Amino acid sequence: MSSLSASNLNSHNRGEVAVSIKNLNVVYKTTLEKRPTLKNRLLQFSSGKKQTRIVNAVQDFNLEVSYGSVLGVVGANGAGKSTLMRSISGILPPTTGRIELYGSVSTLLALGVGFSQEMTGRDNVILGGLAAGLSRADINNKFDEIVDFAELREVIDAPMRTYSSGMYARLAFAVAVTVEPDILIIDEALSTGDAHFKMKSLNRVKELRGHNRALILVSHALATIEEVCNEVIWLNKGKLIQKGDPVSVVAAYKKFLEVGSSPMIDEDV
Ligand SMILES: Nc1ncnc2c1ncn2[C@@H]1O[C@H](COP(=O)(O)OP(=O)(O)OP(=O)(O)O)[C@@H](O)[C@H]1O
Ligand SMILES: [Mg+2]
Repeated sequence: MSSLSASNLNSHNRGEVAVSIKNLNVVYKTTLEKRPTLKNRLLQFSSGKKQTRIVNAVQDFNLEVSYGSVLGVVGANGAGKSTLMRSISGILPPTTGRIELYGSVSTLLALGVGFSQEMTGRDNVILGGLAAGLSRADINNKFDEIVDFAELREVIDAPMRTYSSGMYARLAFAVAVTVEPDILIIDEALSTGDAHFKMKSLNRVKELRGHNRALILVSHALATIEEVCNEVIWLNKGKLIQKGDPVSVVAAYKKFLEVGSSPMIDEDV
């Protein structure tokens, strides 16, 4: 991974492709862990099949994200947003299709991912920085900036398990934005902060957009999506329903939430 420093600021031109996704499909296959009843056992035995649940979490998905833009991702619970983010960040390989990244990526997934509960905030910052490709010296240089941004100086040497979920999210956000990735993926992490931190992190997101980074923001906070994004996609049951300017996509999605259906969704497909 390339070393990240102030020198690579603006290393990408506005409009240059940062992420390219072609014909992506992600399928989850899980074996059901039902307690086997005698009837089930006999049925399975006779058919020789195990019970599996197959979820087509992302289907026939195509997208390009360019530098200098903030892409918003909206959709109901279970629509496939986090699955898509995990695939883009390389945590979850595509079942079929291609994802190409033209730059370094930093991912801030929903709570519970990344930090170790038993380690102190300080050690998590160091590990997080190393995982993002920073050298020990880079991390030392940025350490104060991270802690000050998170406003967690007083608790930085306490184990993470003693942090509230908002404090946890603050530190995760501070690390993710300070390592200056080319591509930053934020899945829901903004929503846990209090109003003060929310404002601060939104400003940081806008700043990064100005630095020609590429940002992908997944959130149920539709006002935030409208405010910071240049473009929004709406996912439903793993499919791209609409892509366009924030105001019209959010309006169509809101309408769908109100009435529970949309002319844009062809249920027969
Ligand atoms: N690890 C997994 N194994 C099996 N199925 C999964 C797994 N993770 C997610 N799914 C399924 O994939 C679908 C998409 O889930 P995903 O987490 O991507 O939704 P989401 O849009 O992020 O929802 P939310 O708004 O609740 O965060 C759901 O049907 C979910 O049950
Ligand atoms: Mg999710």
